[in-house]
Amino acid sequence: MNIRPRRLRANENLRTLTRETRVSSSALIQPLFVKEGVNIKDEIKSMENNFHYSPDRLAEGIEAGLEAGVSKFLLFGLPLRKDETGSEAWNDRGVIQQGLRAVRQRFGDSVYLITDVCLCEYTSHGHCGLLSGTYVDNDSTVERLAEVALSHSLAGADMVAPSDMMDGRVKAIRSKLDAHGQIHTPIMSYSVKYASSFYGPFREAAGSAPGFGDRKTYQMDWHNTSEALKVAAMDVRDGADLLIVKPALSYLDVIQAVSSEVNVPVAAYNVSGEYAMIKAAAKLGLIDEYGAMCESAVSMFRAGADILITYFAKELASAIRKGDIG
Ligand code: PBG
Repeated sequence: MNIRPRRLRANENLRTLTRETRVSSSALIQPLFVKEGVNIKDEIKSMENNFHYSPDRLAEGIEAGLEAGVSKFLLFGLPLRKDETGSEAWNDRGVIQQGLRAVRQRFGDSVYLITDVCLCEYTSHGHCGLLSGTYVDNDSTVERLAEVALSHSLAGADMVAPSDMMDGRVKAIRSKLDAHGQIHTPIMSYSVKYASSFYGPFREAAGSAPGFGDRKTYQMDWHNTSEALKVAAMDVRDGADLLIVKPALSYLDVIQAVSSEVNVPVAAYNVSGEYAMIKAAAKLGLIDEYGAMCESAVSMFRAGADILITYFAKELASAIRKGDIG
């Protein structure tokens, strides 16, 4: 036998030496939920070990990330007041804007703050845009989203991440930011976002479930891959600096296809339902939580993701520190 693949599996040193996928905590992004109010730190029931923080206590969530070795955060806002148009989203004194200012004041540039740009947490009907009857109107929504992105950038966001899935929003956001001198704010577009059942725990966490219907007229049909390449290319052309494929685990083929096609960094979003499945199965004693977390995270990088957005960011950073992955 000339070739014995087991020769390279003989011990931990040799296995780590010949690994094909390297993982670093510098590639991790931790989502955080900012809830309007004061003195709030409440665990989110659907997402164990994730919390709602009011702007005045958001620093605690950031601190916990930093301690574990995570310095990039994706912020979601939960406003007190919702209305038909989601107007709190672009209020300069809105919940995200307050959170950005508080954290920036405390941590300066040692943290990297990305904001989710969408209307679903802010609209009374829970859809990601303005309604025209029961239709989510594209072009008027895009105008509002550009306002939201600008407002976040002016309040201190380092990067904006539109997750609404309207057509043309990257272009509109880029020109709005540029027109106001925010030329250095990158756009990380949720270019490839499927109408998935795996967002359930998040919608509970963000209070953003649609009040009627579903999101299938704007989020993608999960039977499609060519369409993913189409929208990814379109966003890159429109000026997206990075893009997201979401969800991640059922879409490793899409991560692979998109990342080999585009020349911008690709982030995989390991979504709330994927997090919850591992947590729930581990609670039932069916799988080893730590092992499943490590294995699934590496699979997303192996598929071609450059960046991973995950609710396990802190735990993964610790696993990397310990040398269990990476
Ligand atoms: C907002 C948004 C959602 C998620 C991220 N941004 C929910 C949705 O589209 O319904 C999902 C994140 C997750 O499930 O972890 N549009």
